[in-house]
Amino acid sequence: MRNPRDFGKALAIGAPDPVLEIPFRPSRMIHFLDFSNEKMVAKVADIAATVDILLGNLEDAVPVDRKEKARAGLVTVGKEIELGDTQLWTRVNSLESPWVLDDITTLVEEIGDRLDVIMVPKVEGPWDIHYVDRLLAQLEARHHLERPILVHAILETSLGVTNLEEIATASPRMQGMSFGPADLAASRRMKTTRVGGGHPGYRVVSDPDLEHPDGPRDSAQQDLWHYSIGRMVDACTAAGLLPFYGPFGDIADSVGCEAQFRAAFLMGCVGAWSLHPRQIEIAKAVFSPDPEEVAFAKKVIEAIPDGRGVHMLDGKMQDDATWKQCQVMVTLAEMLARKDPELAAAYGFEPASAR
Ligand code: GLV
Ligand code: MG
Repeated sequence: MRNPRDFGKALAIGAPDPVLEIPFRPSRMIHFLDFSNEKMVAKVADIAATVDILLGNLEDAVPVDRKEKARAGLVTVGKEIELGDTQLWTRVNSLESPWVLDDITTLVEEIGDRLDVIMVPKVEGPWDIHYVDRLLAQLEARHHLERPILVHAILETSLGVTNLEEIATASPRMQGMSFGPADLAASRRMKTTRVGGGHPGYRVVSDPDLEHPDGPRDSAQQDLWHYSIGRMVDACTAAGLLPFYGPFGDIADSVGCEAQFRAAFLMGCVGAWSLHPRQIEIAKAVFSPDPEEVAFAKKVIEAIPDGRGVHMLDGKMQDDATWKQCQVMVTLAEMLARKDPELAAAYGFEPASAR
């Protein structure tokens, strides 16, 4: 057991103090890019303007012979490219791999002041976070960083799911988690080759009609991921972390992708990964509050300036709690409108008021 009084203390002399509250910035999509591809590095400033989080991927999907190039490309992006208020993250290689030590040491030394979050794949338990936590503190101290780099875990092994709560509370550096259906399926020996989304074989069927036992029966596809995403959302929100849905592999299937993102959004996720420009638009549509809801929230706040008492508005009861819900909605809308002129217009914010 760690003494809770020490939770807010740096793990290395000279490292910045941990943050005790995770900053919430626009986080609708984590856009994955491979910077071993020079064309991506050249295009990154334009792409950054269209996404909330830009992630330089170093792990799976980056071929072994391009690992170092991807790392070097990310360093170039961090040092040379203006990304505005778009966050810069990386996904490092897994902790048992031969590349991860150089990934972390190089990135903290070269662009530690630009990097917001390090995503750690295949996290299995709090021990994985403790390792990264102390190493980051030592490197931050060595390179005189002024703010701590946060850590995001991918939930993609069955042991990781078993240890969710302990992972979420392992360190004040824990910023959030992403759900990784591909590795999780492999780890559990699930019989699907898809990356996220449903499966037509996973369904329930109504009982047979005794008079027509061979007749048609109602049947509906079920959500393979509901249990694990639900557990992730609870573990994250209970500990003040942000939960995200991960990848949806069938790029051509926009409808399937939107359904998966929306299910995650409704369950409490704040964003999802985008692997293709088409998925950026889907994530924007799904994870931005609905303009009608924002309009209603503004109406509630205008009608109840001090946020107290009980009021009726359009036949709906409003009280201190709904006023707070409306504040959350409008604050998120204002934050997103600052980044996105189309949303500013949809929400009816004047450019000047969309501060
Ligand atoms: C993501 O990394 C996944 O394995 O789904
Ligand atoms: Mg994975």
